[in-house]
Amino acid sequence: FETAPAHRPLYGKHILITAGPTHEPIDPVRYIANRSSGRQGFAIAGWAAALGARVTLVAGPVALSTPTGVERIDVETAREMQQAVRDALPADVAVMVAAVADWRVDHAADSKMKKQNGQVPALQLTENPDILASLSADDRRPGLVIGFAAETDNVIAYAQDKRKRKGADWIVANDVSGDVMGGARNSVHIITAGGVESWEDLPKGEVAKRLVERIADELV
Ligand code: CTP
Ligand code: CA
Repeated sequence: FETAPAHRPLYGKHILITAGPTHEPIDPVRYIANRSSGRQGFAIAGWAAALGARVTLVAGPVALSTPTGVERIDVETAREMQQAVRDALPADVAVMVAAVADWRVDHAADSKMKKQNGQVPALQLTENPDILASLSADDRRPGLVIGFAAETDNVIAYAQDKRKRKGADWIVANDVSGDVMGGARNSVHIITAGGVESWEDLPKGEVAKRLVERIADELV
């Protein structure tokens, strides 16, 4: 039996994180994606490792280097991300930061689609699996499941609804009314069963640090 040293409060814990967008192919050269730099999720992974956790980071296509001490698994599509998340279980904590594409093209073309004299293709879309909701319902559900929600307008109400609908313990609600997407700062509310914790506008690295510290406090 070993106790976690004070400066490594997540020692012995496995934290599973998703980050970045997913890319859903239309044909070999085109895809559907959400806008996401991956910076917030990578920063969380880095802090979790720094505080002593074993970290598995399932990353969509991003232009970022892997934080020190983090095991990174690269994926392209939502279905690949879901499989990588399942393969990484069991975990003590899951933090689903990825901006998963809600839809994919039903049948991606094997060959590049060519323009046809102004005739445009109709894309038949199908809904992607919800990785967070399915993890929440899994037999091997981590003890603490955290989702992110980028919202405008009724940010807290939408996030509270998402927390319940997806079976998450916490939702980190990100107010994206300003220029948060791809930007350096974040304005977040932590939605839990107990209520709402609103944090001041912070750099993404600081949001990551505080969130990981908040997770460590929760696991004590
Ligand atoms: N998420 C997921 N799998 C999906 C869609 C979303 O795991 N297919 C996760 C995200 O990683 C995030 C949370 O669910 O942690 C909320 O994502 P969001 O896109 O806000 O939720 P949606 O249910 O897709 O709702 P919306 O219609 O607002 O996009
Ligand atoms: Ca979505």
